[in-house]
Amino acid sequence: MQFPQALESVLQTLERMRAESAHRPCASRRALEALNRVAPSHSAESISESRTSVMEQHSPPVAPERSEGGSCPKNLGGPSRTGIDSAAPSKHQNVEKLGAVNERVCVCVKCPNLARSRTQTVFGVGNPDADLMFVGEAPGADEDAQGEPFVGRAGQLLTKIVRAMGFAREDVYIANILKCRPDTPGSSYGNRPPTPREMQTCRPYLIEQIDIIRPKVIVALGAVAVEGLLGTRAPMRELRGRWDSFNGTPLMVTYHPAYLLRNQSPSEKRKVWEDMMLVLERLEKPISEKQRNYFL
Ligand code: URA
Repeated sequence: MQFPQALESVLQTLERMRAESAHRPCASRRALEALNRVAPSHSAESISESRTSVMEQHSPPVAPERSEGGSCPKNLGGPSRTGIDSAAPSKHQNVEKLGAVNERVCVCVKCPNLARSRTQTVFGVGNPDADLMFVGEAPGADEDAQGEPFVGRAGQLLTKIVRAMGFAREDVYIANILKCRPDTPGSSYGNRPPTPREMQTCRPYLIEQIDIIRPKVIVALGAVAVEGLLGTRAPMRELRGRWDSFNGTPLMVTYHPAYLLRNQSPSEKRKVWEDMMLVLERLEKPISEKQRNYFL
């Protein structure tokens, strides 16, 4: 297919999505610039113009243009990732509601330094109707690059834990206190913990996610998640393995998988597994003998 026809086809698809779907497609300035770069016979103006003519004949525009920060990540959980069908209206509604929150998140510039430094926001992933929700700290470099929480090494360990519990990653919902990777000025690598102010600023988005999903149990992964959710600061050895409550939802605190990667001691890993067995009991899931004897 020649470029002009391909472009026309993309624009028509976007227009159809815009007309038929509750989620408006988001296109960042960076994405448009990339499109312009691969269009040798089309000037930047001509693509912007054709985009305007096809996409913006129905006002308002597709999505607010941002000076920084990338486009709306797609990994919200939804039919394509979770096999949800039209016979599951509450799931379908939750996909739409989460999509609406994500539309605000992906253009959020409340923390200007994070909006400038992020590749994209990292909203959350998984079953929009999940019984079990995991809350971590903030995206790292891998998550910032891929737009999905817990996809790096710590994420792989979390996925292993989820599977050992008898779930698929797609069965649960995974989100973070912060939707942006904390910036590390002067360095493109490394991580830093979110500041209390960043947590306060981003917290309402997480609360909206929890209110929509209404999980039966929340697992807070690590001290930052506990601070972000409960406002409590204490050593993890005092917090973990206990039931707390987040606005009436039972909340289990356990170690962050990154801690287990740093501290490979079997006793620490076993503690996390024991916390997860408490979660399974709370969810009234049967625990097999093999699971009882399991070590991460
Ligand atoms: N650590 C977190 O807390 N969240 C992620 O998404 C990845 C690593």
